[in-house]
Amino acid sequence: MNLTGRVAVITGGAGGIGAALARRFAAEGAAAVVVADLDADAARAVAAAVGPVVHAAGLDVTVEEQVRALVADTERRYGHIDLFCANAGVATAVGLDAADADWDRAWRVNVLAHVHSTRAVLPGMLARGQGYLLHTCSAAGLLTAVGDAPYTATKHAAVGLAEWLAVTYRDQGIRVSALCPQGVDTPMLAEGLATGHLGARVIAASGAVLHPDRVADAVIAGLAEERFLILPHPEVAQHALRRAEDPDGWQAGLRKLVRRLRA
Ligand SMILES: NC(=O)c1ccc[n+]([C@@H]2O[C@H](COP(=O)([O-])OP(=O)(O)OC[C@H]3O[C@@H](n4cnc5c(N)ncnc54)[C@H](O)[C@@H]3O)[C@@H](O)[C@H]2O)c1
Repeated sequence: MNLTGRVAVITGGAGGIGAALARRFAAEGAAAVVVADLDADAARAVAAAVGPVVHAAGLDVTVEEQVRALVADTERRYGHIDLFCANAGVATAVGLDAADADWDRAWRVNVLAHVHSTRAVLPGMLARGQGYLLHTCSAAGLLTAVGDAPYTATKHAAVGLAEWLAVTYRDQGIRVSALCPQGVDTPMLAEGLATGHLGARVIAASGAVLHPDRVADAVIAGLAEERFLILPHPEVAQHALRRAEDPDGWQAGLRKLVRRLRA
């Protein structure tokens, strides 16, 4: 898929990776890009900065009726949706002792919201015999996010769901990509680095911390090839391979890095 003349929706589009996708989709000639976010003012600021192709909407992805309303409104305005980017996500920065409320929020935003948005958008896509789902997961969904148990568990679930959707709907014209970046210079990671959180330091020590625009580059290339796994950090594929071939050795290597950073 290329973006020329396409209608795209991006959740969590008010900043970071989502805003970079909006800028890039507009530059690629999209017909309309809807940036939807809990922070409606920030979404409006993105729309104002990018230009008239981009439209802002307030949205809590954990409320299924709001997601359905956004999809219905976008279809009414623009006729259909070509690409739905389920990109909103939350980190918790806590381990097993995370409060049940943190586990619940991570599950609702990082996984259940992908179920809800897919349920809402799929009927229109299936009726047209085409459509694209881009689910922002994380390298944490293929590896592990040190110091964040809910993030690790829910991002693994998000990759599993995306793969299930790809297997189930590809023959009906629905393409699916799972975007799995490692470190990206957005408020989510910057906050952890500013407080010296071990997980953020592990990410920074594991590879480049990319500008969100570089993630958008990888998305454009991945969508053009209609590749399931979009890896802005190519080394993540090597780590995932090593983890699959030798889980004990891979875990030992990660523990060694953690010990080094703690020392
Ligand atoms: N930054 C990284 O290093 C990194 C790495 C891998 C994956 N990711 C993933 O990329 C995605 C985008 O994150 P980012 O790095 O741009 O961080 P970010 O915090 O800048 O952006 C996340 C956006 O999601 C929005 N959001 C949160 N909860 C929401 C809700 N309930 N409804 C609607 N919007 C909501 C926030 O308001 C924010 O604008 C997330 O899924 C994140 O897990 C980030």
